[in-house]
Amino acid sequence: KLIAPPPLLLKNKKLLITAGPTREALDPVRYISNHSSGKMGFALAQAAARAGAEVTLIAGPVNLPTPAGCRRLDVESAQQMLDSVLENIAPCDIFIATAAVADYRASIIADNKIKKSDTELTLTFVKNPDILKTVASLESAPFTVGFAAESQNLAEYAKGKLVNKKLDMIAANDITQPGLGFNSDHNALQVFWNSGERSLGPATKTELADALIALVATQYNNKTS
Ligand code: CTP
Ligand code: CA
Repeated sequence: KLIAPPPLLLKNKKLLITAGPTREALDPVRYISNHSSGKMGFALAQAAARAGAEVTLIAGPVNLPTPAGCRRLDVESAQQMLDSVLENIAPCDIFIATAAVADYRASIIADNKIKKSDTELTLTFVKNPDILKTVASLESAPFTVGFAAESQNLAEYAKGKLVNKKLDMIAANDITQPGLGFNSDHNALQVFWNSGERSLGPATKTELADALIALVATQYNNKTS
């Protein structure tokens, strides 16, 4: 059973949350992106604010209203999201990365609209910075929570990311489950930390967000007390 956190659980705590997709330009009119709706991240921002936290939400291009009581900063590309995160990370106690950051961006953004021709079009891409890994590696890193969307080997890949990125916690979801995850109002999460794991849901993203915020607060208190 999922439980909502008590109203003042995160009082005086500062949270930074990334949400939504990033958008990587190809030319002045085109981009590559992904199907992230931002719903999970926005639900977490809302749940954290309800639990009394001061929340900054850094959002890629999404179609969602700003959760009550949260400060929202809109960005487009992964590089802009990283810059905004680094500008706002300093006073934060907890960082939660729900954004579906594009792993690559075009090597060159064309100055002019790419014209069609009769030959194949080849684009080359370079790797984007890993925002979550960058934050977790900071000298005074906050309590860091990652997400992982996996289509296979969920536990193995998620635990790999927990260790590789030096995270405090990771919430994984199986993107092959019909009706859950991307774009849906429902999800199920398998949460891992260094000394434990727990599955949450299937449930609405609002219920899951409450349960995850309660779990994050518990582990944060364990680590800092
Ligand atoms: N993430 C990030 N910056 C990136 C890529 C990912 O901050 N450039 C964060 C996501 O917000 C998420 C976590 O890293 O919290 C895991 O993202 P995911 O795409 O599952 O993992 P990757 O490390 O990118 O590996 P892969 O896509 O190959 O599975
Ligand atoms: Ca990725």
